Amino acid sequence: MLEKFIIHGGKPLKGEVRISGAKNAAVAILPAVLLADSPCVIENLPNISDVSAILNVMQCLGAQIRLINKSSVEINPRHVNSFVVTKEMAEGMRASSYFLGALLGRMNRARVAPPGGCNFGVRPIDQHIKGFEALGAKITFENGMVDAKAEKLSGASVYLDVVSVGATINIMLAAVKAKGLTVIENAAREPHIVDLANFLNSMGANIMGAGTSVIKIRGVERLEGTGYSIIPDQIEAGTYMAAVVAAKGDVLITNVTPKHLESIAAKLKEMGAEITEYDEAVRVVMNRRPRKCNVKTMPHPGFPTDMQPQIATVLAIAEGTSIVTEGVWDNRFRYVDQLTLMGADIQVDGKMAVITGVENLNASPVKAVDLRAGAAMIIAGIMADGKTEIEDIDHIDRGYENVVEKFTSLGADIKRVPIIDSTPVYKQA
Ligand code: EPZ
Repeated sequence: MLEKFIIHGGKPLKGEVRISGAKNAAVAILPAVLLADSPCVIENLPNISDVSAILNVMQCLGAQIRLINKSSVEINPRHVNSFVVTKEMAEGMRASSYFLGALLGRMNRARVAPPGGCNFGVRPIDQHIKGFEALGAKITFENGMVDAKAEKLSGASVYLDVVSVGATINIMLAAVKAKGLTVIENAAREPHIVDLANFLNSMGANIMGAGTSVIKIRGVERLEGTGYSIIPDQIEAGTYMAAVVAAKGDVLITNVTPKHLESIAAKLKEMGAEITEYDEAVRVVMNRRPRKCNVKTMPHPGFPTDMQPQIATVLAIAEGTSIVTEGVWDNRFRYVDQLTLMGADIQVDGKMAVITGVENLNASPVKAVDLRAGAAMIIAGIMADGKTEIEDIDHIDRGYENVVEKFTSLGADIKRVPIIDSTPVYKQA
């Protein structure tokens, strides 16, 4: 059923919100379970549609899945015998590419539909392929599928031409049981890469250097099932932090790793927010109009690209003119047209957006053009006076667990409602 969000904005946010497990760690760790010889229990899984999609693929491949509760699952990969992930199975998600690395690592063979996911212009996988080939796999493209096969995989040195999260993860997955030493240079350093390495090491892998730009993987014969709890979602936490700065208020955000939020907190402080760090929580207090600031997105530990639309939305109502530069993707400003409908003054030139702050946004019907753009529309709706309707919210459901319940608990007026098709139906007499 098609649904939309209706938000009556203009209320400050107050209270406490608990952050779920990290989407981008979960979508790497779940396929990694296929490398084990015995069952794994994965905890702190976010209840979002990207995770259900991955679990569905794993079940189609032959894994046995038992839901323990809404955030824990037991997966037995013993009987996985298929190496094919079709387009229908992958449902257009980006992380389907991780089945290439995981299935190659498990059975030296993988045939996977090309990854989908959010549309930010071209999303190449050349660096993933370069890594697989260095390990000894032969990659071909047949009937719209990526086909990877190897007699055996052997450790190798791979230098990434661009810092790629996906390529770093995929090469780790393929290399963890390859013979000998693999070295990934210019590796991505995101928290979810460290989480994947910790998970693989807890199964018996030998990975060093995750979180730095040189990752060394000494191949092991076998990996055993383990119990593992996924890290909190840095971007979900950052989204709630930005929402408080936009709508004003006082919110305690719990179940977070404050270290992962430093680059986001630094910018929000520059905008005038008071942010206090605790062991596993941050409190955000904001009681003024945000000040302008410039933001440039970069791979970790830089400011995350996945927070770019949300921070730009806050800057749309800041005092003064801000410049937001996208340093990761070619085209991540598609949401700007939607903010313009709400009265924002934003000029985009290539990878740069010049944002002249307006007093406030006007409520309007808008669309979630992708996942984080959708989160930005929620922030816009919450701070604008009046009724904002957001369509295409399936993008938001891919990555935000219980977003309506969480914002409602903070005092926002947001509802999920079905879209009723008003096209008249004429019956023949
Ligand atoms: C991951 O995508 C995330 N997705 C994205 O988050 C995130 O925006 C991105 O990393 C950057 O942090 C998942 O983890 C599932 P990349 P990924 O490979 O791995 C270029 C969200 O909102 N590149 O790090 O696909 C590429 O074009 C999502 O949660 C190549 O040139 O991103 C881009 O400019 C959206 N060749 C840059 O590298 C390659 O082979 C970074 O891409 C691979 C990438």
